Amino acid sequence: MTTPILMDVDTGIDDSLALLYLLASPDAEIVGITCTAGNVPAKQVAINNLAWLELCNAPDIEVALGSEVPVLAPLMTTEETHGPQGIGYAVLPEPSRRLSKRHAVEVWADAARKRPGEVVGLVTGPLTNLALALRIEPELPQLLKRLVIMGGAFNHPGNTTPVSEWNIAVDPESAKMVFDAFSGLPDDRHPIVCALDVTETIEMRPEHLARLAEVAGSTPVETVLESDPDGQLSRTANPIVRYLTDAVKFYLEFHASHNQGFLAHMHDPFAAAIALNPELGRIRHATVDVELGGTLSRGHTIADWAGLWGREKNAAIVVDTDPAAFFDDLIDRVGAFARRIYPPQT
Ligand code: RIB
Ligand code: CA
Repeated sequence: MTTPILMDVDTGIDDSLALLYLLASPDAEIVGITCTAGNVPAKQVAINNLAWLELCNAPDIEVALGSEVPVLAPLMTTEETHGPQGIGYAVLPEPSRRLSKRHAVEVWADAARKRPGEVVGLVTGPLTNLALALRIEPELPQLLKRLVIMGGAFNHPGNTTPVSEWNIAVDPESAKMVFDAFSGLPDDRHPIVCALDVTETIEMRPEHLARLAEVAGSTPVETVLESDPDGQLSRTANPIVRYLTDAVKFYLEFHASHNQGFLAHMHDPFAAAIALNPELGRIRHATVDVELGGTLSRGHTIADWAGLWGREKNAAIVVDTDPAAFFDDLIDRVGAFARRIYPPQT
């Protein structure tokens, strides 16, 4: 039984690992990849996805360009977090695969209309494309089987302002439109929200990369050290492991430089795992809204846990998970996938 998933991404180092995780998952069918501006400009996001698909000898999955700017806010990107091209130190081979001629919004509406009640929408970037798709297809909340969002921060500090998380901060208006569109639906149709409260417990460390190389049969098995020179590239044989290591090394350095430790918060692959198996997270339903007007608090996602607003609930917030079990699953899937695509040279 496979789950059809439409990915909307701002690739991104952790978006890259979310893509690898789903490509490695026999229970996932990626029905399309739509690209929005976020970590890097949308056109670079699209190139990154085409390049990963080609490197992985993936099926011919449609990659469509979406909005290159938020619906209202000026465009904000973060090359300092994800690297000049959005995949850390990795420089993937130039893809020969071509971008879809369709716009992301058309891909969203068409995928949901063609397979009503089947497609899981997974958004690991700003919600611009989904907000625009809701304009042309207001029935999307009913047509999708489920929506999973990586975004927000509730009882947890933000990572972009003291109270806002990146995907929401880039385009708060779109985030509000999306949460509003799901108000009043039954619990099992509320967007599953993977916010920083939980995704910042998903701490990838060098030993995870080493374990992944071992499962892939890639040598040498390297341990990325904080003392290594910045930008030192991996030499391990398996190209998927090598480029992923180069990507994650940038992210490890970024977190260390921001006093968070030599680790990398893997927000997006966790959301991808939830899209396949929602039971991996403990969920609490609440009414969520997004602050748009606050000078200090713009982009803050607020959860009314106690129903003080007297409004319908519209979100299923993941409040707990088992990070170690997640990494065991991710390493097994992506390591075996890398080995299958690029078998060890005997
Ligand atoms: O705040 C983390 C989120 O913002 C992740 O999806 C990361 O890729 C960036 O898009
Ligand atoms: Ca992302």
